[in-house]
Amino acid sequence: MARVRADPRRIAVIAHRGASEDAPEHSLAAYRRAIEDGADGLECDVRLTADGHLVCVHDRRVNRTSNGRGAVSALELAELAELDFAAGRPVAGGPGGEAPDTVDPERSAVLTLERLLRLVASADRPVDLAIETKHPTRWAGQVEERLLALLDRHPVPGEVRVMSFSARSLHRVHRAAPGLPTVFLMHFALPRHRGGRLPAGVAIAGPSVRMLRRDPGYVARARAAGHRVHVWTVDRPEDVELCAELGVDAIITNRPRTVREQLAEL
Ligand code: G3P
Ligand code: CA
Repeated sequence: MARVRADPRRIAVIAHRGASEDAPEHSLAAYRRAIEDGADGLECDVRLTADGHLVCVHDRRVNRTSNGRGAVSALELAELAELDFAAGRPVAGGPGGEAPDTVDPERSAVLTLERLLRLVASADRPVDLAIETKHPTRWAGQVEERLLALLDRHPVPGEVRVMSFSARSLHRVHRAAPGLPTVFLMHFALPRHRGGRLPAGVAIAGPSVRMLRRDPGYVARARAAGHRVHVWTVDRPEDVELCAELGVDAIITNRPRTVREQLAEL
């Protein structure tokens, strides 16, 4: 197995759903915290609401991450705005959890992609964005269309990348915006991608760290094919070390500060 140890400090650290170990995932507070913690970029998942807004929510339903129930696609933005997305999450540093009457909208309110773009535009340094399209086939291109329109209206200084497990979604993005880098996400190496080739137009390989544990040589193959390699979701110190040894380009993690500190010491 060919291992290439590049300077670990050059590996970009991308905050997965924000600094989601310290604040509710996909909350404005989690993204602010990630920027404060020195993340080079922010990762978010986007879904379309029933009335056509892109919101940052991972699951198809809101049941796990809020006090509500139902599919994001069946709820309007105003209905999502009524929900508490910090429900059950203790305040970081607090002794026994959140006081019942404490409501901090930066932790609890559903986040629109537009609001996240405005946060990134107002940061005091360029911050990259890695936006993942979820369930794009159901909406037959609407997710990508709205996403590209929003990016046009709200330019940000850092690099924006669109990520997906769906080659079809990335193809739509590439056709409409050929200059926008795309990331093909992979749980495991599919046979046709084992040589490092990705779907047409895709710039960046996005393997899971589990995939790299089983197949560390994938990084060299992808790089030989001309792709950058962004790995998810890398929280364990031994996985950070593996990524550093393999010379990946970016690490996507729930704990950006800790990973940044570890990389600085390797
Ligand atoms: O960054 C890629 C990663 O987020 C993909 O998995 O399930 O966390 O969206 P998931
Ligand atoms: Ca994601």
